[in-house]
Amino acid sequence: MKIYVGSEEQIAKKAAQQYVDLLTKKPNAVLGGATGSTPLGLYHELARLNKEGVITFKDVTTFNLDEYVGLDGSHDQSYRYFMNHNLFDHIDIDKERTHVPDGINLENIKTYDKAIEKAGGIDLQILGIGVDGHIAFNEPGTPFESLTHVVELEENTREVNSRFFKSIDEVPHQAVTMGIKSIMHARSIILIALGDNKADVVEKMINGPVDTAVAASILQLHPDCTVYLDEKAAAKLLASGADVEIERI
Ligand code: PGA
Repeated sequence: MKIYVGSEEQIAKKAAQQYVDLLTKKPNAVLGGATGSTPLGLYHELARLNKEGVITFKDVTTFNLDEYVGLDGSHDQSYRYFMNHNLFDHIDIDKERTHVPDGINLENIKTYDKAIEKAGGIDLQILGIGVDGHIAFNEPGTPFESLTHVVELEENTREVNSRFFKSIDEVPHQAVTMGIKSIMHARSIILIALGDNKADVVEKMINGPVDTAVAASILQLHPDCTVYLDEKAAAKLLASGADVEIERI
């Protein structure tokens, strides 16, 4: 793992540079998308770079990590809607090449991993992390061998995500998510964590045992994973005095 600590803005710029480097070498790269608050700065930066002509997404294919069960793409809390609204509508991507798991026709999820493989596999996957260590919607205890599947959302995850809905009652109880194995197949991974509510879990992800209790701990075993932390999310890790290399941006 490479670990960088910096401001949210520095993180967005440095992570975006990884996309510039990749797309310069491989204009038809396959990108793994994520939702949530965390990648918004990065998406904003990617849109800016696209507008300035530094990168183009016209030959890029994307696969998103997850989607709520029961929400179609027109629902403003669906992850398809989120991706269109926060990234795809602002870059020169062909929407036909953008994929989000189908939260309505669950039969379709059986072919999601195959579709990723057929597209050549994910070159660069962006991840956030949940306060319980989830990556995508792989909650604690999810087997490391898992592929795309349907999950029951933890109450805590529903509560955390209820900030985007009118009330918690509207938050779906299930989601479709790429599995941990699906995520680990990506050639490169970027995980961003921001804010003090992530400090405990970040420390466990990096210093703790590789254990399904903290799904993100598996990333310790990925051959090319870059972790970007703001000061708050890095606080516990920095205080732990752990023997890990941390670079300031
Ligand atoms: P957040 O969500 O980016 O909104 O903090 C992260 C996650 O739950 O994976």
